[in-house]
Amino acid sequence: MRFPSVSSTYLILAVCLLSWSSLVLSASARLKVGKPTIVLVPGAWHSPIHYKLLTKQLESYGYPVVSERNPSCNSANPTAESAAKDAAFIRSNVIMPQINAGKEVILAMHSYGGLPGAAAGKGLSKKEMTAAGRPGGIIGLIFICALVVKEGDSLLSILPGQVFDKWVVPYANGQLFVDNPKQVFYDDVPSPRDQLAVAALRNQSRASLSTPSGPPAWSDAVYDDRRAYFRTLNDRSLPAVAQQAFLDNSAVRWSINNFPSSHSPFLSHPAELALWMAQEAGRFTGKRHRNRLVS
Ligand SMILES: *[C@@H]1O[C@H](CO)[C@@H](O)[C@H](O)[C@H]1NC(C)=O
Repeated sequence: MRFPSVSSTYLILAVCLLSWSSLVLSASARLKVGKPTIVLVPGAWHSPIHYKLLTKQLESYGYPVVSERNPSCNSANPTAESAAKDAAFIRSNVIMPQINAGKEVILAMHSYGGLPGAAAGKGLSKKEMTAAGRPGGIIGLIFICALVVKEGDSLLSILPGQVFDKWVVPYANGQLFVDNPKQVFYDDVPSPRDQLAVAALRNQSRASLSTPSGPPAWSDAVYDDRRAYFRTLNDRSLPAVAQQAFLDNSAVRWSINNFPSSHSPFLSHPAELALWMAQEAGRFTGKRHRNRLVS
């Protein structure tokens, strides 16, 4: 009788190990399908690093978070950017990889991010994906003091007189920066967190704030009872009255949290914001959020 050679023994061992590890992997993958992924779209001048505290808190509740800087922020070619380009990037590079992996997505947007974010999500709701015989899809929209605009509008077109606020500093090459960002964005953010946030701001392309939005997802009936708005009452860049006007003009239903913070609750009140987001996410998934605020 011939014994198997050393190499074939190793081969059998390797095959056993492989199938065992893939069993373990698929078991852990099954355990993790639970919570939807939160896609977090930054505002103008902002990057994912600004939302790190919020992201950590959401991850501690079990929500994976993905976020990318919009192409219009820190662009090498600001005049070539647009709101539509941002939307196309968010759709193909941030949302679709999640949906293609069969994941449910909650689309969370801050400030300007509400414009390209809502356009990026058009047609990708779970209901629409299911109807097309595909898994995954967007199950809810969360606006964090974010723009709610109609097709054809831009940030500039909705401003009074269609001129930027005085704190917006234009450069000849098509970039915009911010005068006194501590006061405009981070009024209630403790030191040194506020200084780090100021240092992380980057130029925003003017074109991205003045070119028209595509058709947004927020107005679609598939999001009835799946729209949430965090309205910041002490906001010095996008005043609470402007946010209220968005909601009034939208002519759709919202779950609204009126909260006493600046334009940057993800830095001044990350725990409170994360808890509210988890509660809204619980409403979208039908699984009530049980954690309480710890801070
Ligand atoms: C913004 O762009 C202007 C003009 O190109 C440049 O001088 C400035 O340093 C930039 N600011 C930041 C924060 O990158």
